[in-house]
Amino acid sequence: MKLLYALSILVHLIPGSLSQSGLSSNPQVFGNVFNFWTKLSSGWDLTRGDKANAITLPMPRNGPIIIQPNKTALVIIDMQNFFLHESLGGDPLGRAIVPTTVDTIHAFRNAGMPVLWTNWGLTEFDLVNMPPAFINGFTSDGTSVKSFGSDMGTIVVPKSDPSVPATSRTQGANETIAVGRKLMRASWNAQPWGALLTEQVQGVAKGTDFYFNKNRLSGMWGPGTPMQTWLQDNSMTTLFFGGVNIDQCVWGTLLDSYYKGYDVILLDDISATTSPIGATQMVDYNAGLNGWRANSTDIMGALKSAVKPK
Ligand SMILES: *[C@@H]1O[C@H](CO)[C@@H](O)[C@H](O)[C@H]1NC(C)=O
Ligand SMILES: *[C@@H]1O[C@H](CO)[C@@H](O)[C@H](O)[C@H]1NC(C)=O
Ligand SMILES: *[C@@H]1O[C@H](CO)[C@@H](O)[C@H](O)[C@H]1NC(C)=O
Repeated sequence: MKLLYALSILVHLIPGSLSQSGLSSNPQVFGNVFNFWTKLSSGWDLTRGDKANAITLPMPRNGPIIIQPNKTALVIIDMQNFFLHESLGGDPLGRAIVPTTVDTIHAFRNAGMPVLWTNWGLTEFDLVNMPPAFINGFTSDGTSVKSFGSDMGTIVVPKSDPSVPATSRTQGANETIAVGRKLMRASWNAQPWGALLTEQVQGVAKGTDFYFNKNRLSGMWGPGTPMQTWLQDNSMTTLFFGGVNIDQCVWGTLLDSYYKGYDVILLDDISATTSPIGATQMVDYNAGLNGWRANSTDIMGALKSAVKPK
């Protein structure tokens, strides 16, 4: 009964009449009453009929897109000390996108859209259930002992800025940091790097941001993850992605989200990788087919001028 009632309400939202199958006969409507896009003369309406406070975002191709801010989120993946800190062999390309990532986070918050962080954050239970291929993929010396959960020792950083290694050129006193067990929940190496730590901690405290641990490359794998549950509970439909590595954890999370019916938009300039260029080219090619690709700079103006819902 409940479902029929919901359907009877929703059919009034969807343009064009419905056939018995629940699909619209309007050739510009793609999908069913619960999950549909409307093709416009230029671009796409992704709001599923909920146009209140909708925002139009330019896209380099196949746009613009009209999005509903309370169904749309920015997903930041794996921008953790483990992948970025110089003392841990982290990626300089990943560090280079941090200022742009911070700007993008601020713009999404300004437009009333949540920022979702999904990071490696393992438990003892995850270690017991970890498949061999993953343990092998994350070993630092070719043995299983130096993989997930192994103690990563200490590093020396300037007290004034723990995001860089201490050198003879860095100013002031140093401090020694316990890096913690590899990618374990609440360890220092699993924290966001540099300015992103403050962004995450403050955003979560203010309720604009949400944090989700993950135990594989993808934050959306299998029958369900903490992030997927949150997306379902909050009726989210549309996800923007950035982080590292574009061809591994970002791609894994984007692809699983796409498989599960979310709209996926890859933000090129807040994503990076240590992999050869061909890996990024494959992701870019397919992300453009699965959804959209853009740079944060393409949408920044529209996000900044969006009215934040009360
Ligand atoms: C989104 O916001 C609009 C008003 O701006 C409201 O009508 C709608 O119910 C909201 N949807 C959700 C899922 O919160
Ligand atoms: C901090 O550590 C670096 C690298 O070991 C060293 O060169 C520098 O002298 C140290 N600074 C102080 C104030 O101890
Ligand atoms: C983002 O900007 C870079 C540098 O200008 C450009 O090479 C790339 O094609 C842009 N990406 C998209 C999706 O427009």
